Amino acid sequence: MNKIRVKGGRPLTGKVRISGAKNAALVLIAASVLAKGESIIENVPFIQDVEILLDILRGLGAEAGWLSDDTVSIQVPDQIDFHTPYDQAKKLRASNLLLGSVVGRRGIAEISLPGGCNIGSRPMDLHLKGLQLLGFNTQLEHGYIKVKAGSLKGNDIYLDFPSVGATENIMMAASVVPGQTIVENAAKEPEIVDLANFLNAMGARIRGAGTDVIKIEGVSELKGIRHAVIPDRIEVGTFMTAAAITRGQVTLENVIPTHVQPIVAKLREAGSKVWEKDDCIEVVGSAQITALDIKTMPYPGFPTDMQSQFMALLSLAEGTSVIVENVFENRFQIVDELKRMGAKIKVEGHTAVIKGGHNLYGTCVKATDLRAGAALVLAALAAEGETEISQVHHIFRGYENLVEKLNGIGAQLTIL
Ligand code: EPZ
Repeated sequence: MNKIRVKGGRPLTGKVRISGAKNAALVLIAASVLAKGESIIENVPFIQDVEILLDILRGLGAEAGWLSDDTVSIQVPDQIDFHTPYDQAKKLRASNLLLGSVVGRRGIAEISLPGGCNIGSRPMDLHLKGLQLLGFNTQLEHGYIKVKAGSLKGNDIYLDFPSVGATENIMMAASVVPGQTIVENAAKEPEIVDLANFLNAMGARIRGAGTDVIKIEGVSELKGIRHAVIPDRIEVGTFMTAAAITRGQVTLENVIPTHVQPIVAKLREAGSKVWEKDDCIEVVGSAQITALDIKTMPYPGFPTDMQSQFMALLSLAEGTSVIVENVFENRFQIVDELKRMGAKIKVEGHTAVIKGGHNLYGTCVKATDLRAGAALVLAALAAEGETEISQVHHIFRGYENLVEKLNGIGAQLTIL
């Protein structure tokens, strides 16, 4: 089960429906801990990270389960446990998002330092700085972050880096801390806006989400609500790039085009034709892929979560491309695997230089993290011959029904 075989060389054609966003669903599930009563979250992708986070909630004493194939119900008791178990929390980065919601609900939290992709050190200093400024006492002990309410009061918090997770944890905790909190240099990702909409529907008072200044008026209680997760912009980007790399023609449904503007702009620069229509996007790949340069940046810049997928695409471009990874310090692990397929890539620190102008060839490769794994599938779809990808559990963490969706538009993937 931990391998996929891919037969390459066929253009993808047809329609595919995009699932709910992994990185929105995870933070909304975490945020439901703040609410009294039942929260119902729709358009949740059925992926391993969601299953693990629901399991952690159950371990804390919550009732959490699937009402249908894309809707979860979560009911959290007043005395929910505040200590997350190491053996579960180490499996995914998003376990750190329980910090803001558990401490907001209970006034105390002991969250195991998170695991997740090995794409960087993934520190928590900005999360802790924000909580300390709100009046929480924090300490790191035996691999756990321990947070306890002191004299809580809203405050002004400047984030040295627009960290998505830190912005989310601060929003969740500040929602129930008395007074006004202003977060400056906040993350602006669509997932932040989705979280603000979710919390405001619960009774929170958050303004400015999606800009770099978010204002939060603390309230005393939040109530469970029904909410639908936004579509997954990185899944959209992955499938758009699949159309481009196979020179195919694919229509994506259940999309918010404004969320993927940086990716659309770069695909057009690479020669693809892209049409946006309401909640659909159509991509027609070009016979010749044009080399280009990429710098990953926080939203609305080019997303780091699309960097590996473009590394695969640009391996087939005519000419030399340069990718600079500005967000994570170790996100070029796909390079060695692409080189096994014939790619010509040179890495100097945070910069990768990709010399295109030749084909990729099927061989055995391994997924090193979620997005690198997805990018290897893209490379294999375009390569001559067959590719076997191992360690594909990384991919199933974050993509719902990836094999079925790709085979539905002409790919030939087999789970081994
Ligand atoms: C979220 O991770 C996403 N994960 C990541 O998606 C995404 O790549 C990332 O945001 C950036 O967009 C989830 O939402 C579950 P960050 P997060 O805090 O919150 C530094 C995927 O493939 N930093 O914005 O962990 C950090 O080291 C995953 O779906 C600090 O220095 O990202 C990194 O260099 C991968 N101190 C940069 O900020 C802190 O306290 C961005 O991290 C926190 C972060």
